[in-house]
Amino acid sequence: VGRGTLSLLPRILAAGGHRRAVVITDQRIEPLYGARVTAELEAAGHDPLLLTHPCGDDAKSLASLGRLYDAALADGIERDDAVVALGGGVVGDLAGFFAATFLRGLPVVQVPTSLVAMVTASVGGKVGVNHAGVKNLIGAFHQPVAVVVDVDTLATLPPREHRSGLGELVTVGVLGAPEVFEALEAPDPPDLVPLVEAAVRCKQQLVEADPLDRLDIRAKLNLGHTFGHALESLSGYQLSHGEAVAIGLGIATRLAARLGRCDPGLPERVRRVLRRHDLPTTVEGPQPWEVLAAMRSDKKRRGGRLRWIVPEAIGRVAIVDESEVPPGLLREVLADTLGGGLP
Ligand SMILES: NC(=O)c1ccc[n+]([C@@H]2O[C@H](COP(=O)([O-])OP(=O)(O)OC[C@H]3O[C@@H](n4cnc5c(N)ncnc54)[C@H](O)[C@@H]3O)[C@@H](O)[C@H]2O)c1
Repeated sequence: VGRGTLSLLPRILAAGGHRRAVVITDQRIEPLYGARVTAELEAAGHDPLLLTHPCGDDAKSLASLGRLYDAALADGIERDDAVVALGGGVVGDLAGFFAATFLRGLPVVQVPTSLVAMVTASVGGKVGVNHAGVKNLIGAFHQPVAVVVDVDTLATLPPREHRSGLGELVTVGVLGAPEVFEALEAPDPPDLVPLVEAAVRCKQQLVEADPLDRLDIRAKLNLGHTFGHALESLSGYQLSHGEAVAIGLGIATRLAARLGRCDPGLPERVRRVLRRHDLPTTVEGPQPWEVLAAMRSDKKRRGGRLRWIVPEAIGRVAIVDESEVPPGLLREVLADTLGGGLP
């Protein structure tokens, strides 16, 4: 994690003994960074193959994957070659899944260029594509051999995408990196390098303790996400991922306070940080029962009970099962957030 670290890529590939590089990116990133990265890899003798797909979540599809396989096959990509995923979370998930499956697995270097991808998507090895209208239905765990974060690339990130990443950053701060939360509370604009580094370390520790997401350790990363995913899909994806997670974080914190699991002042402290970074804390439209139904249908698909990660303090979270939450209380907490209340 640093500034100007994109230039490290040729050395990282050489250190891993990789011959060629398949650089996968999207149409917005290609002119910004794709040309530069491929030129540097070319100069170092890695004979890069640059593959570009359209922007947006629709690109995370089996059709895109098919085009990547065809291009890699036609170009003679082999097992000791490496994949470089250069872009936001969409590129990371698609290129990562390509790497997990082509020739039964190529090494992947994740090079996140969006704040969401830097803070969450590039670390942890979850890769995949959407299918039949279901997000991330088909996927794998494929840990990157390296993650290279060049914070300078954020200079070109659109403001709304930047805000979306800040939503994830605040959430990581609450779930396990208090220094990140406190820096985002301070009035001065934060230096993102140490914050991204701390967020990555926090996620790394949880992932290393529970790489396949089976032990309720990695699940802590879902803080704000169970509510957030429901709101994101009910908005028809008009809310960005980070915006939905920010609102979800607010709901989880209010739930914790109502259950007596955290200091009663914590919801207001979290709300102030979210507002400081122009993140929403309420949303008009969905009804509490719709949010509950959306969470339930998501859970049904995953074959589990409804449960939420809630903060007990800044930097500490717990898991709350639906049996511990009176239904009336949950509806009240949701009603506070939906369609009015404080901004
Ligand atoms: N694998 C995981 O653990 C994980 C975790 C969180 C999210 N995700 C996935 O990540 C995706 C969301 O990621 P995202 O928010 O990065 O979205 P994204 O990849 O769609 O990027 C958002 C937009 O910003 C552009 N962009 C990215 N970096 C830029 C830069 N430096 N300069 C200019 N434009 C830039 C992209 O081209 C895109 O148009 C979703 O598909 C989500 O499912 C995966």
